[in-house]
This record gives sequence, structure tokens and C-alpha cells, in this order.
Amino acid sequence: MTEQKRKRVFSGIQPSGDLTIGNYIGAIRQWVQHQHEFNALYCVVDLHAITAGHDPASLAAKTREVAAIYIACGIDPAQSIIFAQSHVTAHAELGWLLTCVTPIGWLQRMTQFKDKAAKQDAANVSNGLLSYPVLMAADILLYHTEAVPVGDDQKQHLELTRDIAQRFNHMYGEIFTIPEVMLPLEGARVMGLDNPLTKMSKSEKTQYHAVHLLDNPDQIRKSVMRAVTDSGSLVTFSNDPERAGVNNLLTIYQALVGGTQADVEAYFVGKSYGDLKKAVAEVVAETLKPIQARYAEITADETYLNEILASGADRARELAAPTLQSVYQNMGFLPVKQLQQVKL
Ligand code: TYM
Repeated sequence: MTEQKRKRVFSGIQPSGDLTIGNYIGAIRQWVQHQHEFNALYCVVDLHAITAGHDPASLAAKTREVAAIYIACGIDPAQSIIFAQSHVTAHAELGWLLTCVTPIGWLQRMTQFKDKAAKQDAANVSNGLLSYPVLMAADILLYHTEAVPVGDDQKQHLELTRDIAQRFNHMYGEIFTIPEVMLPLEGARVMGLDNPLTKMSKSEKTQYHAVHLLDNPDQIRKSVMRAVTDSGSLVTFSNDPERAGVNNLLTIYQALVGGTQADVEAYFVGKSYGDLKKAVAEVVAETLKPIQARYAEITADETYLNEILASGADRARELAAPTLQSVYQNMGFLPVKQLQQVKL
């Protein structure tokens, strides 16, 4: 496929908390599967990780960790651009410009904002938590992104991005490409093991809530074996909230092993919930084993990761600059170039 024909793709993960199999199944796995069809940028969105309080002592290390996980999972840095968001200042600049074209009511309607704000002391909810989807829109729109591979929880933010792009184009001229959301076929919303009615989240600190990508096989087994199920015994997919735990385990299994729902159900005929948990623990551990081995290699060589992040940021900066320039121009800002001409 030629460079021009490849779809421009952008996605990112916040370096907050420990990445979970939800992040892998919902996002990274699709990036890896389709990377050769894409002209992709995979960003470690560190500016997003400070919206709800963060630890300055660990932000840099977490940023490196997430970048190393991208590569360990199979993103080829020679093919795709891997970089840290704060290294390309155009993200923050466009974020501000778009903040000024986004009605506040659009942001107040975001379910993630409502959920996250409800978990915090109201007096401490930052403006950043409210404005964060505008920065996400800037991330995406800077690169004329056509498709954004994410999990289901980001769908609403993608719709907002489209609305912001359309509003800007209408007000200041057609600059932005309107991006499409790309959800995985299975596992778009992996649920918490301890509470299958809530999304598995890297910011949830409860023990046995999630399998983290860097958990050892013993931790993986413990979390999966303790997963909440129900009092039934039938190992089948179901939309019944009562059976959400079993449905979630089967979804994880199907996402990692493949096959149709019927194939997966046929495999578990006559088997118990205990058998299902053992099978899921095993397949998760087997999936993560090579990823963790590669992660250890990558992080053993600091220079390797530094070089990837430095060159990724250079490549991203080059792509972002003309878009930002057009936005400034269409919004009527005084061009720096004019001042340089005066000096000459
Ligand atoms: P974040 O860091 O919360 O999650 C990163 C990616 O993982 C997916 N994901 C899940 N998928 C399935 N099941 C789950 N339980 C699960 N948990 C997380 C998310 O959908 C996401 O794809 N705002 C974004 C980061 C971001 C971004 C962007 C994404 C910033 N700018 C531009 C795409 C494009 C976020 O907080 O993701």
C-alpha cells in the first residue's frame, strides 16, 4: 500500500495508573493488528494525565513505561510514530484555540466528566477535567486524522471531536478532516473483574479489579480466579446484567483466542465457571508473557526508547506545524513571518 493511500490514524493512552488488559484489548491490540494499513501516530498523552491530580515524581517514568508498552505489544516504531504529547507543543496550543470555539454545555454533557467529577471533592474539580475532551480533539485534528481506534468509553469524546471540527470549519474555513471512531469487534468495553457492571479502569486501585499488563502469572491467576460471577452454571454469552461477570470473562477469552461466540461457547460446553476462569487466566498469562519479555528488553536500554521518543516527536512536530499555522491564519492572528520581514 502506498504512503498516500494509507489511512491517517491517531490514538493515545494516558500515563496514569497501570495499563490493564482493557487498554490492550480495547485499544493497543487493534493498533497492532492494523498498523500496516495505517499511517499512524501513537501518543502517550501526558498532558491528559494531570487533569485529576497526579504525582510529579512518577509522571516521567510512567510516560516512558507506556511508550515501552506500545512497542512491547508490537507497535513498530519504524512504521508508526510514537511520541509524548507534551513534546509537541502544538497540542496545547491547538487545545486552547479550540477551547474558545467549544460551547461549555457540550463539555458539561460528557459522561466521563460527570463520572470523574462525582468521584472528587467538588471544590477540587479542575477546569482541565472539564476541558480535557477539547485537548483530545486537538490531538486528533492536528494530524488530519481519518480514524481513531479506541475503546467504547471514548466514543462520546470522538463525537464531540467531530462536532468541534465541524463548528470550527464552519466558523473559520475548512481546515479539519472529520475523523471516524474505530471500535474493536470484541472487547470494546472490558469490565472490572471485581464488579462487572463497571468498566475496567487503570485508575481503579482496588485489588483484583483488573489484570495489569505487567502483572506476573501469579497475580493474573489470583485476579481472574476471584472474578465475580453469579450463582448459575451455564458458560454462555449473555446481555443479562446478572450474568455480566461470565459474559466479561468470555469476552476476554474470545478477544484473545479468536473465533466466533458460537465457537467459544462450544469449547466451554459441559465446563464450569471454575474451568472458564482457569482458561481465561491461562490465555491472559500466555498473551502477556512475550509482551513482558519484550518490555524488559526495551526498558533495559534507555537510549533506545529515548531515540524513539525524540524522533517520534520530531516527525509529529513536522506534521502538526502546517495545521496549526493554518488555524492561526484563518483565525486572524498576526503572523510571526510579518515581523521577520520588518526586521529584514
Ligand atoms: P485512556 O487512557 O483512559 O484509555 C486508553 C485506551 O484504552 C481504552 N480502554 C478500554 N477499552 C476497553 N475496555 C476497557 N475497560 C478500557 N479502558 C480503557 C480506551 O477506550 C482508550 O482507547 N482520552 C483518552 C486518551 C486520549 C486519546 C486522544 C485517545 C487522549 N487523546 C486522542 C484517542 C485519540 C483516554 O483517557 O484514554
